[in-house]
Amino acid sequence: MAWSSSALLFTFAFIGFVADAAIVEHTFRVGNLTLTRLCEERVVTAVNDQMPGPTIYVNEGDTLVVHAINESPTNMTIHWHGVYQRLSAWADGPNMVTQCSVRPGNNYTYRFNVTGQEGTLWWHAHFSLLRVTVYGALIIRPRGGAAALPFSPPDQEANILLGEWWNGNPIDVLNAAYVSGSAPNVSDAFTINGQPGDLYNCSKKHTYKLEVVSGKTYWLRIINAAVNGQFFFKVAGHNFTVVAVDATYTKPYETDVVVIAPGQTVDALMVANAAPGNYYMAARPYISAGPEGPPVDLSTTTGIVKYASVNSSSAPVMPALPGLYDTPTAHRFYTNLTALVRPGDPTVPLDVDEKMFVTIGSGIVPCSPPQFLCNKTTGSASASMNNVSFVFPPTTPFLVAHYNNLSIYKTDFPDNPPVFFDFTNPAVNTDPALRSLRNTVQDIRLKKVKYNATVEIVLQNTAIEGAENHPIHLHSFNFFVLAQGFGNYNATAAVSSFNLVDPQVRNTIAVPAGGWAVIRFVANNPGVWFMHCHFDIHLALGLGTAFWVENGNTPDSILPPPPPDYPAC
Ligand code: C2O
Repeated sequence: MAWSSSALLFTFAFIGFVADAAIVEHTFRVGNLTLTRLCEERVVTAVNDQMPGPTIYVNEGDTLVVHAINESPTNMTIHWHGVYQRLSAWADGPNMVTQCSVRPGNNYTYRFNVTGQEGTLWWHAHFSLLRVTVYGALIIRPRGGAAALPFSPPDQEANILLGEWWNGNPIDVLNAAYVSGSAPNVSDAFTINGQPGDLYNCSKKHTYKLEVVSGKTYWLRIINAAVNGQFFFKVAGHNFTVVAVDATYTKPYETDVVVIAPGQTVDALMVANAAPGNYYMAARPYISAGPEGPPVDLSTTTGIVKYASVNSSSAPVMPALPGLYDTPTAHRFYTNLTALVRPGDPTVPLDVDEKMFVTIGSGIVPCSPPQFLCNKTTGSASASMNNVSFVFPPTTPFLVAHYNNLSIYKTDFPDNPPVFFDFTNPAVNTDPALRSLRNTVQDIRLKKVKYNATVEIVLQNTAIEGAENHPIHLHSFNFFVLAQGFGNYNATAAVSSFNLVDPQVRNTIAVPAGGWAVIRFVANNPGVWFMHCHFDIHLALGLGTAFWVENGNTPDSILPPPPPDYPAC
């Protein structure tokens, strides 16, 4: 039997009405799967012999229980990207942040409530580059059913998971990059629902197809599960109405192109109102670093939207995609979204307890002894927040230290960069007087905040080793995006432009290349919560930190004990 799933129903009585909260149970067997892609046969790690893995459906308020059984040869963890994990930090998943990884032959049951949020999220491995093949959709439906949606219920839904494919083993790719201190091999393809599409070699039968009926409305739940690719996504002959991003509703936004960074989701409604025929859906990267940036996969993945009424053999129409370096189109999409604020939704907190200014970008560190192919003159590539290159702790996950009140980790992550300089001026790479600004320090320094503190962060990209748009993801918390712009952040000018009324709410912000974004959130969940670049290669180079959110004073603000099967290190 490939996999099993069951839903046990429980009933709770409330005054005036009865609501059902279910326990939704899944078994994830993580094991080897043999796949043929791009003319080659390969063994990958996958869940329940599927890539993408199984889609999980829950209703808001349900409890999700996933028994993860590691039958693969590699260590693994699973992260539930965008789930709040209120009082369930043990189930969040990032390796060495909230748990030790599950070793081959071992199991761990992830158990958590999905409360106070609804929409399109996803799950993925959070160990090395394992998420290249270990990922899937996590769909949270409103408790009140389709009638509770803030838009007319579409006729049909389709999950569109954008992925990335290497012919080599992704963990080997990452290790090889580490040893040489340089950029990893670029991927060999991008994928839609695990299929590269017929523009790639040997891929005609590896092409995703969506059959549509004229006049009907399709709800595309688009998830960017790629490792290093931001995408422009289009369907020839069709427009979209964006109604949600990162599982938060937006005011309807009409567009013919969706722009999506790794970690983000976009819910786009599409009416099948073109002349019946075959149309490509296509995704190709948005390369924010420009043509002078590091090498990247420039290929295009396609699927086919096929009208049910037509003969399938006609050649699909290809959409005109934006250029690879089209920052204005990306910025227009990323900044035009606003939240649909419904009664009862959280509003922007106006009083800030913790103000942080955090630089994000690349850097340089000296080669370390295991990096035996690293060029000692130029040093190794690194990345940082405020010049601190995050390193994973070797033995004790941060969350274990939090729970046991161990002071083994520094909680002095700086609220400001060591030097304020002309962050976005590329002279930092060439002017001998400035070049030392590129050096980062590998260290563990966490940011400690009080329970319920309101945190505001200015994320400022630097030009070090090239400006680039970094998708910064925060675990556990949605944040308000108050403002975004290019160049160096100027508080006087920016504050007057803050949207405090209906800013978009996200868990992953694509910070403009050579620019900045301001986010604000309430740290209302005790635990240790990762914040990192969702380009996994940048995470491996140190582009991250973590928030140590202290317990509060009430029983519902104290992290409960770990589950009995919590993995030992
Ligand atoms: Cu989607 Cu820390 O990850």
